[in-house]
Amino acid sequence: MVKEHQIIAGNFDLAGRASSDLKRYLKGNLLYPRTFISRVCSASYEAEINVVIHSVGGYMTYEILDDTIELNFYDDGPGILDIELAMKKGYSTASEIAHINGFGAGMGLNNMKELSDRLTIHSSPRGTHLKMFFKVGDRDGLPVHITT
Ligand SMILES: Nc1ncnc2c1ncn2[C@@H]1O[C@H](COP(=O)(O)OP(=O)(O)OP(=O)(O)O)[C@@H](O)[C@H]1O
Ligand SMILES: [Mg+2]
Repeated sequence: MVKEHQIIAGNFDLAGRASSDLKRYLKGNLLYPRTFISRVCSASYEAEINVVIHSVGGYMTYEILDDTIELNFYDDGPGILDIELAMKKGYSTASEIAHINGFGAGMGLNNMKELSDRLTIHSSPRGTHLKMFFKVGDRDGLPVHITT
């Protein structure tokens, strides 16, 4: 199953919609442990917000196959000049308006790396493609329908 969601730059009212939709879908499926849903959706939210505050717009796709999920975020410019620097805790180029809306701590990419099982970033001055892969694993505990 593959789904696609548009992400609009600078729109703080709609920010997070794509990730909420993903969460709704995952919660409706008894296969997934709560911890797994939580880490997938937290990482998705971070990536979605980055498109909102750092790009000029883009979209997210999610592909769900049994106990694995692949998320792709594509956006148009300005890209990440130095990915290694951007991954550093606390590094942020977030605008004033992003800060006013509660973002810009410089933690998003770091969180995505921790939460996902694989993170890859391709970026150029024309835009960014960020991919995350998740697989239900030991750190996720038991599926919802088995827990008491
Ligand atoms: N999609 C993107 N397009 C362009 N630059 C980006 C993108 N995503 C991240 N960056 C760059 O990488 C930096 C670090 O991103 P990160 O998500 O870790 O922190 P942040 O978004 O600034 O703050 P936080 O995520 O804590 O709210 C950003 O400040 C920005 O310079
Ligand atoms: Mg961020």
